[in-house]
Amino acid sequence: MRGREYAVEAVRKIADAVSEGEVVEVETAHVSGVSYLTLGEYGVRFIEQLAEWGAKVSVFTTSNPAGIDLTSILGASPEFAAGQRRVISSFIKMGISPISTCAPYEFIKTRPRTMHAWAESNAITYINTFRDAWSDKNPGPLALLAAVAGFAPRTEMYRLEGRRPTALVKARLELDALRAGLLGAYIGESLGSGIPYVIGPAFVSEEARREFAAALSTFSSIIFAVIEGATPNWELYNRLADVRDKLDVSEADLSRYLSEAGEPDAVYIGCPHLDAEMLLRIIEMVRGRGPAKKPIYISTSPGVYEAVRAIAEELRERNIYIFAGSCLVVSPYTRRFKTIATDSLKSIYYIPRLHGVRAVPCETLKCIDYAYS
Ligand code: F3S
Repeated sequence: MRGREYAVEAVRKIADAVSEGEVVEVETAHVSGVSYLTLGEYGVRFIEQLAEWGAKVSVFTTSNPAGIDLTSILGASPEFAAGQRRVISSFIKMGISPISTCAPYEFIKTRPRTMHAWAESNAITYINTFRDAWSDKNPGPLALLAAVAGFAPRTEMYRLEGRRPTALVKARLELDALRAGLLGAYIGESLGSGIPYVIGPAFVSEEARREFAAALSTFSSIIFAVIEGATPNWELYNRLADVRDKLDVSEADLSRYLSEAGEPDAVYIGCPHLDAEMLLRIIEMVRGRGPAKKPIYISTSPGVYEAVRAIAEELRERNIYIFAGSCLVVSPYTRRFKTIATDSLKSIYYIPRLHGVRAVPCETLKCIDYAYS
């Protein structure tokens, strides 16, 4: 029981510092900081120690992508793989689902006004924004401790008054995946913090909603946007709004993140992890095109991968690699490339910073075209 006592005491102490001692019971938790690349040796030892102390999660808990994928497409050194396996086996000991996806909302149907201790910014922003399910941006170790304790510090995002919109954003734009990411990045960088109430965006796909949530939370500390007509309870948030900032977004504003692609030597799609619908659309895009000249990497969650496993294995011979359980942001495999073309603004932000590799944005079909040119 030592592990549980430790977690309970740690979460209470953090609550003393950040929420005047108040805590909130949570229904689920999602742990990030899973890759050996970002955890490092001390991070792994912390997780192992908790597991050795007998800590078990007391709510359903999922885990973020790891540094190696399920089918070993993204090769890693034996030392790295061994470090990663230590993390996963400690998670299993603690009762954490080793699902390794950053889109747990795909199968956890979080309901409005339910509480969650999640620690992956795209997922937190997605459930706050498109489900009105409540989670703060808990750091990875805190989400892990909260999973064991069953509660989290009751910070502002777990209070209705803390979820009051603070900025009015007009963005009457039709958004595919890339443009939704561009909008998220633009709103994020322009406002920096707070809660935008957004009027007008038309997300053309589930993928676009994911990209918006991922980019917004990558380019700012914002983890909740109310989308008029789309966020559950948006009328309530409209009435609660205390608007201090205003922003009008035009087509021209979105283009500020676009740059010349140059000569990408790989293409990456699936940050956040792709849902089945988008994956099937991409498979359709490459059907009948022969082998790609440059590799195309596509990350998805294990459940979706299983559904397309036979096609995924066939596509490998055509230089197209669908994989699950990891991504090109958290895997050291990425360092073999010079320039990666991607439709993900989150990847555009992190790949250069974590790996020193250039990343250029492109609309999904255009990215695929680069691989054939
Ligand atoms: Fe997911 Fe990796 Fe992107 S964890 S959100 S695919 S950086």
